Amino acid sequence: MHLHHFRAAGVSVLLECPSDALPAILHWGRDLGPLGAGALADLAAELRPRSDQTVEVPIRTALVPESRTGWTGLPGLSGHHHGEHWSPAFTAVTYEVDGQRLTATATDPHARLGLTLTVELDPSGLLRARAELRNGHDLPYTLDALNLVLPVPGNPTDLLDQAGRWSKERIPQRRPLTVGTHLRENRRGRTGADAATVLFAATADLGFGRGQAWGLHVGFSGNHRHYAERTATGRTMLGGGELLLPGEVILESGQTYRTPWVYGAYGHGLDEAARRFHDHLRARPGHPPAPRPVVLNTWEAVYFDHDLDRLLDLADRAARVGVERFVLDDGWFLGRRDDGAGLGDWYVDPAVWPDGLHPLVKRVRALGMEFGLWMEPEMINPDSDLARAHPDWILRTGDRLPPPARRQQVLDLTNPAAYAHIKERLLALVAEYDLDFIKWDHNRDLVDAGSAAHAGRAAVHAQTHAVYRLLDEVRAARPGLEIEACSSGGARVDLGILQHADRVWASDCIDPVERQDILRWTAQLLPPELIGSHIGSGRSHTTGRRHDLAFRAATAFFGHYGIEWDLTSLTDAELGELAEWIALHKRHRALLHTGAVVRVDDTPEGVRAHGVVAPDASQAIYEIAMLDRPATWPPGTIRLPGLDPDTVYRISPLMPVASHGAEPAWVSGRLELPGSALAAAGLSVPPLFPDQSALLHLTAVRQDRDGFST
Ligand code: GLA
Repeated sequence: MHLHHFRAAGVSVLLECPSDALPAILHWGRDLGPLGAGALADLAAELRPRSDQTVEVPIRTALVPESRTGWTGLPGLSGHHHGEHWSPAFTAVTYEVDGQRLTATATDPHARLGLTLTVELDPSGLLRARAELRNGHDLPYTLDALNLVLPVPGNPTDLLDQAGRWSKERIPQRRPLTVGTHLRENRRGRTGADAATVLFAATADLGFGRGQAWGLHVGFSGNHRHYAERTATGRTMLGGGELLLPGEVILESGQTYRTPWVYGAYGHGLDEAARRFHDHLRARPGHPPAPRPVVLNTWEAVYFDHDLDRLLDLADRAARVGVERFVLDDGWFLGRRDDGAGLGDWYVDPAVWPDGLHPLVKRVRALGMEFGLWMEPEMINPDSDLARAHPDWILRTGDRLPPPARRQQVLDLTNPAAYAHIKERLLALVAEYDLDFIKWDHNRDLVDAGSAAHAGRAAVHAQTHAVYRLLDEVRAARPGLEIEACSSGGARVDLGILQHADRVWASDCIDPVERQDILRWTAQLLPPELIGSHIGSGRSHTTGRRHDLAFRAATAFFGHYGIEWDLTSLTDAELGELAEWIALHKRHRALLHTGAVVRVDDTPEGVRAHGVVAPDASQAIYEIAMLDRPATWPPGTIRLPGLDPDTVYRISPLMPVASHGAEPAWVSGRLELPGSALAAAGLSVPPLFPDQSALLHLTAVRQDRDGFST
């Protein structure tokens, strides 16, 4: 039996590849070292499951587990030919290995199904797998599910994933891993504010920089599932795939279905697992180019109140403070005076914009900024000319409409005529205004979503793929055009959409206290340069809390920077302070957007700390944020992980620190310490008020292999 051992960046994947059964992963996790064939065979014998007390043969759990092997957990493939062939048996398998990619081509000769499995270990140590099913039978094959399963070695005890809601996305939740199934199913037709995002099985000591974590992410923006299963025999599996609605995929003879990529990120600590996603994304040829331009988005500045003079003033002030991309949000198209009408009518409204958007676009470009526009191409208001002309272009089941959400419905992009119409509109707008950027929004769930063009059948699967295609066609229309994936804020954050978009809007909540956690946990999947991170107004529009500019600006500092604030209401002093923050970000964005993200464990009560370390560890920026009033004072110390232990760093504040008490020595900017000491002992937290933070800049001053001495 063939074994294949892939190794990258401290990760090993050991695959068992029989010719009469589907491949199985025997080990996925910490690097096994450079094992020869004999050692690999001995190890495989150890790792193969043993028979339990019920079945006389060992129960194999392949990448797509089959019931025929005795597996009683969630099956990999569920489906049937009119009730037959419901339990697949892929017994003829051939393999191809290309570098660190294995392709298994399997057949179930009885059911006449073909299954191609692809597993690869990326140079970042990120594992990914997908499956393609082909129906070779004359009868149609109804596909209910096709999940990929990654076994977790050792004895994980904990589960960690994410939940959330509108304006409070990606909240971590942790629980014991016990026998049974922890199932996170999503039927929203979009990734969801409450998406699991990455589901980890982990050791009890898991932190950002410690413990072991095995994470699974399904890279898909439609319905999907993540699950963890622990069997009575003590095996732990992570599984996932697309969640198919009844009858959604019926393969006619010769037709195929392909799963989304299912990603596996192993890490010694959550930061290492996150870094595998980040490194994988950064290595893509289509990764957005640096530097990321500083954005001004008009939404919280003017909402639907589109007044040219005010917007021109906003553009002038934006340019003055250093903005590089001006984005006109919702409210510019036909009949769109509030959120109740107009979606679908993608023509500039002459009642508000008698000369089109040209006067604004001209000014924006004259000021040296790029121009971007908000659109919500997948949606339609019943109160629109489009809906009145084509009521059958709304996704619906039978005669009823899905329950309204934000007074809108979903446009059926699986209907070729509707797709062609919306594509024409998008391309026309891109061409007319030479758009640099589209904020592509998606503000409701797809529920009860059937397609009239397809006899009312469930349409989320086809709709999601149609959206991906549309995004690609629009992006291809103009070189350099970038697209932001927004969905009621951060409800479309997944690696599926990021194959077709250039950044995500993390949340509609810009309150820095909330953002500290939203950004921290969005970073579990995405590097900072892909996360839209704006400075909001003094009083948060979603929480009513008030915060200093310094705290808002420091919190947003690490991501794809921007502003979402009515600059026309600012004094010159405030504009000056804002300009300073933007200039500071520009000076450091090359580091922020290429470095390794570190989040600090064991911070004192009320304190959060995180940072970014340059790839060569020559410099780093950390933020220490005080989110609450600690019960003990002074607030203690934090360790700074991620630096080179043998390098001596000078530590200086990036902006003046607002200390309320005796300042730590490093605030003077004269302290120098080696990375080893900073990781082991760390620095004192300055005496900050709640809702204040300090940014620290560390720069290498010299190597010191023999220890630091003055
Ligand atoms: C959604 C987005 C916001 C804004 C509005 C416009 O809620 O998340 O950022 O664009 O739509 O209607």
